[in-house]
Amino acid sequence: MTAELIYGKELAATIRRELKQDAAALREQDILPHLTVVLVGDDPASRSYVRGKEKASAEIGISSDLIELPSSTTQTELLDLIQRLNLDAKVNGILVQLPLPAHIDEQAVINSIDPEKDVDGFHPANVGKMMLGEDTYYPCTPYGIIQMLKSKDVEIAGKTAVIVGRSNIVGKPIGQLLLNEHATVIHTHSRTPDLRHFTKQADILIVAVGREHMIKAEDIREGAIVIDVGVNRNAAGKLTGDVDFENTKEVASIITPVPGGVGPMTITMLMLNTIKAARRQAA
Ligand code: GUN
Repeated sequence: MTAELIYGKELAATIRRELKQDAAALREQDILPHLTVVLVGDDPASRSYVRGKEKASAEIGISSDLIELPSSTTQTELLDLIQRLNLDAKVNGILVQLPLPAHIDEQAVINSIDPEKDVDGFHPANVGKMMLGEDTYYPCTPYGIIQMLKSKDVEIAGKTAVIVGRSNIVGKPIGQLLLNEHATVIHTHSRTPDLRHFTKQADILIVAVGREHMIKAEDIREGAIVIDVGVNRNAAGKLTGDVDFENTKEVASIITPVPGGVGPMTITMLMLNTIKAARRQAA
């Protein structure tokens, strides 16, 4: 069997067309959704993500600005800036690109963002709401994965979902969103002994570790759905996922490629959250 592929790029384009219409409808009511992105330091990967956010905003009709700060910025300076953005009624969404330089306490920064403007869905108030199953801003990559599964009419309820990786950005929240969709969720991580024992049980396997080809065909069950969140650059400079795509696609029923799989959905969900923020703040 060769698996069906889910190209996030195609789904992202469809959703972005809808968001463009939503943004136009808001403009009719004199509401201009605005996203402010804060980038501290000059990490090349972060810079590239930030460019993608600006481009997507422009395409959809969301106004955006980028505040670039040197890596020497102090935590107090960053917290002061966020305070100003919290109070600025024109700013609907605030995104502080992670990772931050080591001398800044990342969680303190996230905690300082007004939860109503937290379009990343990282603030403890929004994480708590997600856990309670309430409507809120959901973290973009996990929310994008849910949309991808739904786009293929995958029945999540009752399925065994196994997550590899426990980051606050992907591993933990995707488990929560799948639980909210009534999956049976198993979280695994770097200290899980006999990882294969668990991955083999997965109807839906989500891999978000950041280690090239750590999951191979023999680690999955025949017919499993495999979502690869990894983005790694191999020795040849090529982007690869955490899953050995070439052999795993022969065993899985559905699989996402890297690049072109989950990646494009993340920014699209950020755009969705920004429009949602503008709508909520105007109400
Ligand atoms: N760095 C990597 N992914 C993300 C994300 O989703 N949001 C932010 N703010 N930083 C990131």
